Amino acid sequence: MEIVIVPSADEAGRVVAGIVARALAAGARTLGLATGSSPVGAYRELARQHREEGLSFAGVRAFLLDEYVGLPANHPQSYASVIRADLVDHVDLASDDVHGPDGAAPDVEEEARRYDDALRRFGPVDLQLLGIGTNGHVGFNEPGSSLDSRTRVATLTDETRRDNSRFFTGGEPVPRRVITQGLGTIRAARHLVLVASGRRKAAAIAAAVEGPVGSSCPASILQVHPHATVVVDEAAARLLERADRYRDGAGHAIPGRRS
Ligand code: GLP
Repeated sequence: MEIVIVPSADEAGRVVAGIVARALAAGARTLGLATGSSPVGAYRELARQHREEGLSFAGVRAFLLDEYVGLPANHPQSYASVIRADLVDHVDLASDDVHGPDGAAPDVEEEARRYDDALRRFGPVDLQLLGIGTNGHVGFNEPGSSLDSRTRVATLTDETRRDNSRFFTGGEPVPRRVITQGLGTIRAARHLVLVASGRRKAAAIAAAVEGPVGSSCPASILQVHPHATVVVDEAAARLLERADRYRDGAGHAIPGRRS
């Protein structure tokens, strides 16, 4: 696992965008996209590179991690809408090539199975972007999720619903149920890249990177993945006991960064 500690959230976004751009240049054709605020800096930088430097997503197929149950795709907080606003509208990713579970499907259990089958058929995902919840969740795999779980309907914790309520305006409740790629589904990707910033993520990052591997901290699956990269700013890194060692190694892990 590579741990890259950078001074700011903006720099974390640039580092993650650099990893994505290099993967595309090396032939990656299947991207796993995360939503939420964590990857937004990376998406902004990828859009800039597309606009100013000719970075292209042509021929890339993208898969979302998760979706709220009950929100139609055109609801502003559906992850289908969020990824359009944050990335797809600003680059040359064809919207037909951006896939996600349909949270408004009449049979959401069946929809979860269909999405998992699609991931098996088109996968493995070459590069999977991840954020992390304050309780260590990835995708919407809350603590207690099986490490081998597949895409399924899951229930959010109150903590996650509280955290995500900042995106829902006018007192609209955060849906309780979601469809999420499972931890087993996510682990099938070739390269996992998790990005986090800010003090409120520090405990989750410490548990994910230096705590025991297990379902109490779903993001700890990165410790047992053959190719995982964690990019954090200083605030999110503040509880890492081995931060100095990671700083020493960062220049070797990420081409183009000084050691
Ligand atoms: C949501 C998403 C996760 C995301 C997490 C963190 O629950 N399902 O994929 O990683 O929130 O969100 P944020 O990046 O906004 O802090």
